[in-house]
Amino acid sequence: MAWDETSIPNLTGKVALVTGGNSGIGFETVKQLVLHGAKVYIGARSESRAKQAISNILSENPSIPKELLEWLPLDLSSLPNVIKAANLFSTAETRLDILINNAGISSDEYVTTKEGFEQSLGVNHLGHFTLTVKLLPLLKATADVPGSDVRIVNVSSLAEKFASSSNNFTTVKDFSDPGATNPNDYTSRKAVFKRYGISKLANILFTRELQNQLTQQNSRIIAITLDPGPVATDGGMGVFPVAREADRYRGQFLNGPGKIAQSSERSRNKELAQSLWKISEEVLKGVDQ
Ligand SMILES: NC(=O)c1ccc[n+]([C@@H]2O[C@H](COP(=O)([O-])OP(=O)(O)OC[C@H]3O[C@@H](n4cnc5c(N)ncnc54)[C@H](OP(=O)(O)O)[C@@H]3O)[C@@H](O)[C@H]2O)c1
Repeated sequence: MAWDETSIPNLTGKVALVTGGNSGIGFETVKQLVLHGAKVYIGARSESRAKQAISNILSENPSIPKELLEWLPLDLSSLPNVIKAANLFSTAETRLDILINNAGISSDEYVTTKEGFEQSLGVNHLGHFTLTVKLLPLLKATADVPGSDVRIVNVSSLAEKFASSSNNFTTVKDFSDPGATNPNDYTSRKAVFKRYGISKLANILFTRELQNQLTQQNSRIIAITLDPGPVATDGGMGVFPVAREADRYRGQFLNGPGKIAQSSERSRNKELAQSLWKISEEVLKGVDQ
């Protein structure tokens, strides 16, 4: 049977957080989650864009109780801001069932975040790494509640295959210069894809190592990563029957509803995933908390 939004189960009582939920794929995800009864937080850096998204959903769907949609101030390019957002969320809510790390950017220019990391890696990977690690206590507590089914979904892309080949996530410096080492090449399409690709490779490696650690800790949380398919969003760039076959899906890369796909050989490299985790943690330790 083909999967569509009618396949989404009733999510009443569940709490979700969708980063970049104010536009594109994130916006549609928020809409479906709330239409199925979840309380949904839109993690967004712009109050006006988040509130506009909430108002658009509510005006299109007047039956949705307005208290089911909230804005969580979140700027993924600033790690102290991400930590603040995670703390705010953990104070406001007693559970988090679905964390969708969806926000993503592709930088035409070589730009750095406030902490000096290349923007695509800083936002797409380090911002989400920090958010997830800081929300893990709440996610784990939710997974201990009988009947829960906690998910962490990292939105990646098949563009991970264009990742700069010289970046092996060996030291924290790799977050600053992901393959765009030739200044003359900074703005070329190739460099743009290398920067975007390495951040999307990091999304997959992060998911695999996260799942590895969760499984070792006997946690029931399922972490998955996926390519959403080509979607004509501004950036240009589901909820699947995962629970019934949890062991098959843990840590996997999906390309289409419930379809496990083969990501690149690099993205399946366990040592690379562990090295990325180690240097990401190093970054986090250096941030004022
Ligand atoms: N569209 C595609 O064909 C496609 C294909 C493969 C993968 N993907 C992936 O799908 C995800 C969603 O992409 P999309 O096409 O829906 O993109 P989009 O329409 O450009 O939306 C991106 C979202 O990320 C948010 N964002 C960017 N920087 C942020 C920051 N520093 N802090 C917080 N939020 C930030 C944006 O917020 P603002 O409104 O404030 O900018 C926006 O809400 C991305 O991870 C992308 O890599 C997309």
